Amino acid sequence: MLGNFTYYNPCRLHFGPDAVSKLADELAEYGPTVVLVYGGGSIKRSGLYDQVTTMLRAAGKTVAEISGVMSNPTADKLREGAKVARDANADLLLAVGGGSVIDYAKAVAVSAWCDDDPWEKYFLRMEAPDNRLIPVGNILTMSGTGSEMNAGSVISNPQQKLKIGHVFGPELIPRFAIVNPELTFTVPDYQMRAGIFDAFNHIQEQYFSGDDDNTSDYVAEALMRSLVTSSLVAVADPADYEARSNISWVCTWALNTLLGKGKATDWEVHMIGQAIGAVTDAAHGMTLSAVAPAYYRHIMPYGLHKFVRFAVEVWDVRPEGKTDEQVACEGIEAMEAWMDRIGVVRRVSELGLTPDMYDDVVKGTFLLEGGYKKLTPDEVRAILVASA
Ligand code: NZQ
Ligand code: ZN
Repeated sequence: MLGNFTYYNPCRLHFGPDAVSKLADELAEYGPTVVLVYGGGSIKRSGLYDQVTTMLRAAGKTVAEISGVMSNPTADKLREGAKVARDANADLLLAVGGGSVIDYAKAVAVSAWCDDDPWEKYFLRMEAPDNRLIPVGNILTMSGTGSEMNAGSVISNPQQKLKIGHVFGPELIPRFAIVNPELTFTVPDYQMRAGIFDAFNHIQEQYFSGDDDNTSDYVAEALMRSLVTSSLVAVADPADYEARSNISWVCTWALNTLLGKGKATDWEVHMIGQAIGAVTDAAHGMTLSAVAPAYYRHIMPYGLHKFVRFAVEVWDVRPEGKTDEQVACEGIEAMEAWMDRIGVVRRVSELGLTPDMYDDVVKGTFLLEGGYKKLTPDEVRAILVASA
């Protein structure tokens, strides 16, 4: 049953091989100063940096830069970037990169004109923004997080061993997103696989909740099927445009704020994954793949009907002559077989997580309502042990 909700997503998304050409039109809507935000250099190696800076110059913009945004961007880096954006009096933050760069640009957007410490205000205390905000636009170079079209921003604090995501309001959704799947061809294999599982799990986090007949669940099944099909093509041939373009579009839809509407949603795999990321700095999608099977086996008894549906509708498991438990288990086994075929991390030990670090992970895991079972800290530990 769909209850009350408001759906509003103000992002204008340009998709396809020619999408970057749309940047010129977008730039015309903003004032003279653009802060270009990017990561460790992949955009320089690919030539995208030259292309974008040429377009910025042609548009008559004054350009400042924040470079070196790391995967799992940190609170210290946020403070540094906030100062750059404020000193430049930025009219637009143009993020060119993957989820880390785009998340970071959103964090800078709320932090530049914030007189408080932004990590404490916007991440530790999760306050709503009450200062001037800078508009964000992006050119996506790696698919996975959905950050290009949502208001999420995840910042890490390695000293405090915390990694916290704040889902802001629609005012923090990028005003525009440029998604050219060809730009993702150069993403390292490991990151491509991580991004695929990240998006798959975003869909699962929204799917495994509720026991109603919900339109979102049918959409989720279609997205998961498409992602499974395209991922198998892409790992064999990363330059297959059809597969990569389907993956990019699924990744955007998996977390562009539509799918979860009218649903409770779970997000506990993400909470455990983020806590693992806080202590290991591992690639986000791989922190999820390492714990997801154990988590789903653990909560399966509490949402058995949905796990049966997952098995039948996503993995074509035949239910005849089997108990619900058998069907549900076969669904998880099919998911694991797919995970092995695309080559994602299956054990937390592969991420460098050792048992002496479990306490920090358990402590850093937010325990959410909304899924089929609210975990206790002991259950988080049991899931880590089962994923060791
Ligand atoms: O830094 P550069 O040099 O650009 O290299 C990056 C980085 O090393 C590289 N890369 C990206 N595009 C490339 C490329 N290399 C070659 N060619 C390209 N076209 O890939 C590496 C990983 O990039 P990153 O942005 O870190 O990956 P991802 O997109 O997975 O983002 C991860 C971050 O997003 C957060 C995660 O927690 C993590 O901090 N998330 C954000 C969400 C959101 N906004 O809603 C939701 C997600 O659940 C997630 O939590
Ligand atoms: Zn994710």
